Amino acid sequence: MHTHRRYNFKNQHFAGQEGRLIPLLQQAQTEDGYLRRERLEEIHKLSGIPLAHIYGVATFYAQFRLKPVGKFLLRACHGTACHVSGAVELSQAVEKHLGVPNGETTADRMFSIETVSCLGCCSLAPAMMINGATFGNLSPSAAVKVVKKYQKGERS
Ligand code: FES
Repeated sequence: MHTHRRYNFKNQHFAGQEGRLIPLLQQAQTEDGYLRRERLEEIHKLSGIPLAHIYGVATFYAQFRLKPVGKFLLRACHGTACHVSGAVELSQAVEKHLGVPNGETTADRMFSIETVSCLGCCSLAPAMMINGATFGNLSPSAAVKVVKKYQKGERS
């Protein structure tokens, strides 16, 4: 089974566990979209690295997700520039429209929403990204309008 070969590092020492773990976690996340419990258990069984340690690493690094994400990942910027331009109201409007709090995914798995500390386009504050697309100078209602376009399939 090729999965086993991939994760077969039984004979290596525990030193530098994180250095070995991170690429495995990245690979698992790339394949599954997030870190499934079964994958973490598989890594644990094959490596002997305690599951608690694996979870510790997975939760420490912001790049890892322990929950599945929706088809569209909406990242609302809550950095300073966006914050003073109404990022909180923007997020509240989006959360209300989608019916889920920040950090969650809608029941239909269409949208996941999260906040980030800067999207690198502060002159467009308040800004948000949906997958690879950036939207700026958004009023709360303009942000909701953008979300609706994705929901209607007018954007993908
Ligand atoms: S603070 Fe929002 S893009 Fe920089």
